Parts: sequence; C-alpha cells; structure tokens
Amino acid sequence: MPGFELFGPEERKEINDVMETGILMRYGFDGPRKGIWKSKELEAELCKRLNCGYVQLVSSGTAANTTALAALGVGAGDEVILPVFTFVASFESVLTVGAVPVLVDVDETLTLDPAAVRRAITPRTKCIMPVHMCGAMADMDALMAICKEHNLLLMEDACQSFGGRYKGKYLGTIGHAGTFSFDFVKIVTCAEGTDRGADLHPFIGYNYRISELHSAIGLAQVRKLDQFLAIQKKNYLQLKSILSTLPEVTFRTILDPEGNICTFLDWFLPTEEATRALVAELRQQGILAGNFYWYEHNWHYIRKWDHLRNATTLNKLTEPQQKALLSLDKADFSASDRIMSRCISTAIGLLWTEDQTKEKGEKIVAAIKKVMSKEKAHA
Ligand SMILES: Cc1ncc(COP(=O)(O)O)c(C=O)c1O
Repeated sequence: MPGFELFGPEERKEINDVMETGILMRYGFDGPRKGIWKSKELEAELCKRLNCGYVQLVSSGTAANTTALAALGVGAGDEVILPVFTFVASFESVLTVGAVPVLVDVDETLTLDPAAVRRAITPRTKCIMPVHMCGAMADMDALMAICKEHNLLLMEDACQSFGGRYKGKYLGTIGHAGTFSFDFVKIVTCAEGTDRGADLHPFIGYNYRISELHSAIGLAQVRKLDQFLAIQKKNYLQLKSILSTLPEVTFRTILDPEGNICTFLDWFLPTEEATRALVAELRQQGILAGNFYWYEHNWHYIRKWDHLRNATTLNKLTEPQQKALLSLDKADFSASDRIMSRCISTAIGLLWTEDQTKEKGEKIVAAIKKVMSKEKAHA
C-alpha cells in the first residue's frame, strides 16, 4: 500500500524546489521563499482532488483527528462513538480533547455496525466517528441518517482511505469533518511534520503544522494517486480471484466496490480455529509478512488495548473518561470478536508483478487447503 514504493523524480523535483529556497517553514518568509508555497499548494491540490471546500494540513493523522474534533467543538462532557477495530490514534484523539470514547462493535464491513451505534447513543453523545479501515468505507448512509435523527456530528477518520469513495463522494468529505494520514505506510505519503512555536495565542492550543519538505513530497504523491489506485485495484482483483476458488473463503462486505482503494484484501475463514491454524502455517512457511491477523494485533483491535481498558495514562483523566475506559473491560464485543477472529487482511503491493501476485495467491490457497483438510480430519 505505501506510496513510497513509487518515489521518483516528481518527489525529488518538489523537494529540490524547497531546498533551493532553504525555507522549510510553511508560513511567512515571503521574500526569501521566492514564491514557493508547497503546503498552500498541497492544500489547494487536495481541495481540488477531493472536491471539498477546505483542507488544513497538520503534522500527522493523529494531529488531524485531534484538530478536527476540537474544531467541531467536541470536548469535556461529550461522548464520541467509534469502532473497536481502528488504530489507537482514533480513541487517543477523543481523550486528548477531553471527551469520552464509546467503543462499539463492527460488522462485516469491518467498520461501525449502525445498529451498535444506535444502541450506544446517550444524551451525552456529540459525535459519531466512523473509521474507514483498510481502504474501504463505513455505511455512511446509515450513519448519516442516525446523525440527522439525533442531531449529532459525523467525523470520518479516513486516515487509511485517502482516495476512497462512497457513492461517488470521497471518504473524509461526507461528514462534518474528515481526516487523512500521509504517514510513511499510507497509499500517499509525505512522512511526518515538525514543530515551531505558535505566533499568536488566541486560545490554548498545540502546534501540529506540517513542514514544507513533507508538503513537497505529498504534492508529487497526491498527483500519482490515480496511478496507485489503478495498480492496487488490478493486484487486488487478481488476488481475490485466486482466493475465490476456495469455498471456505469469504470476503469483507464492500458497500461500494468502485470506491475501495484496494490497499488490503480482507477475507474470512469459517472459524477462529482455522484462521489461527492458517496464521501459524503461513508463519511456519515464512510467508506471513503482509497478511495481518488484526485480532492479535496491538494497534488495531480492542482486545490488545490494555492501556485503554486499564485507563493507564501519564496525565490524570477526568472522572467520566476514567469510568468509561474501565467499563470497557466488562463490555461485550463478542459480535466483533466473531468477525475479527476469522479475518485476515492481505496488504496489496504497488510493485507486485502479475506473476508475483499469482505466486502469492497460490501459496496462500495451498496453505488454506492444508489447514482446512486438517480441520476436517479433526471434525
Ligand atoms: C485509522 C487511523 N487513524 C489515525 C491514524 C494516525 O495517523 P498518523 O500515523 O499519521 O498519526 C492512523 C495511522 O495509521 C490510522 O490507521
């Protein structure tokens, strides 16, 4: 999935433009920068590309989530509903602004289950935060209807899905605000930002601004997005057709296949036991790399977020935050467990040749066959 695989002369040119002026700060220095404004240019490029009215670059997806929530006025006393399958930055940003993260189940879209969202709404709910995981979309129609009905804000964490669409609209531009990450392993990357003191102090805040160097790389990468999307889709469809030959394999519900950025092929085996056995088999054969079993991963799924469930923080939490976090330990996420424990996500590479994709697919198929025949023998 990472755009850095196709770094080329375009990125180098944009960086050289900045290096020639020596101005790595995105604001000010009007004279010495000689008309080079990469951050402004990237913001304009993103507005055009995403067909949206306003883009603000900050130093990371984490900072973007925090900034977006703060800009929406989400804070102390508010609850934000988000999924148990996400990246830790999603709930961390909710805590950063002083709100309470309310974690709920995912369904086979691997994103928020709208029914679970409905059940979690309280008078304190201020915002619903779908996370478009692994390049594909949450059920935005259902979530927008819930937001309308209950007068809630919708903040899309589209950090993993830049360029993805839902019914023609870009993910991240459908709700009241949306965020993207261009960190080093995203479909479009520009690394991470640097800090400098704030100029004015209209309110207490933080410095999340991006550097010109990152914008320069981002500019070249964003302009290559269509090329990346076409390659990902080709490799994804080839791999999917190989895995589809097995009746035991099913696939993630993709609500709008046209809008999937195809960075991952997400698929299921019939049982947790078979999935675990397959992971062990792939590891043993030395071909597990690139196949993610999120159920055992400490970034993306609630099972391994001990720091969250134990409310272990350096700073003191508010009482409602602490209470909400400690209650997670007894919460029932068995519906998500039944899905996530059977799910494997295969990351799609930009550099794969047709032969390499075929070989990867065939090796996975052979491993699944081996595992399933052992499962059947035991049954
Ligand atoms: C769903 C999600 N949200 C937020 C982030 C944070 O982005 P960053 O790494 O740019 O801070 C990530 C990063 O992987 C992510 O996957």
